[in-house]
Amino acid sequence: MRIAFIGDLHYPSMIGKNEKVKEARDAFYAKFLHTFFEIEADYYVSIGDLTNFGREDELREVYEIIRKYDKPFIHTFGNHDLYGVSRDEVLNISNSEQNISIATDEVNIISLETARDHDHEDYSGYVNDKQLQWLEAEIAESEDKLVIIFAHHPVYDTTANSNFPYLSIQPEVPILDVLRKKKGNGIYINGHNHKDSIETIDNWTFVQANAVLDDQSIRILEINDNEISIQSPHVASPELRGMAQLIGSNINHFQLNPLGMGTTPNREKLIKRNLYV
Ligand SMILES: [Fe+2]
Repeated sequence: MRIAFIGDLHYPSMIGKNEKVKEARDAFYAKFLHTFFEIEADYYVSIGDLTNFGREDELREVYEIIRKYDKPFIHTFGNHDLYGVSRDEVLNISNSEQNISIATDEVNIISLETARDHDHEDYSGYVNDKQLQWLEAEIAESEDKLVIIFAHHPVYDTTANSNFPYLSIQPEVPILDVLRKKKGNGIYINGHNHKDSIETIDNWTFVQANAVLDDQSIRILEINDNEISIQSPHVASPELRGMAQLIGSNINHFQLNPLGMGTTPNREKLIKRNLYV
């Protein structure tokens, strides 16, 4: 089983922007998404902030590119996806569902919505009681089968910067208590803080991927009977990097991170499966 995913894409609107930036945006996202979908995988996942402001033009345009490839694509909403048009409209344009679980023989894949609906003040994550109960039931039902959760916000105090205000699911949400009930391996994958980071707590591996405009990498999870590998192949060329810099420095609601790509231990990991728990 192979799952490919990408960090925050922040596909931006070009309404009111000059032609040079628009050309860079069109070329950059066409090329990057082509590289992503050309990778052989069973599922392709966006961990949220697929769009820069959840505008209708952003959603329609990015989905126009995505649909060309006709691949099984999962979009876990990020806070930026829920700033523009209504959540119902985002669901409609993306033709996606939130809080879903896909059971395969090898792994249960969960997409958990953590973004607040059109809250322009509080961009932290939130998971309500109903979602927590659902997650707890999913964890129990999975028994010792591998569970991979894709969510936009980190769990508080796990991956990089998730102990700062607004940079995680609110610390009051007892999601870690729910995760701790898991038998066997779990992997929790998030974006939001735009910083490569991998942390292990008990049987859970927490993975944060940085943002695509900062670093053009694809993420690949390869799952077999004995181990799970997380790889982060870097697919940038000088041309692609130049376009990303031009786009990133000409859009609102996004800040380029000068530190870009993280160290290898924060990007890649081999997890030995604990088959005897
Ligand atoms: Fe983001």
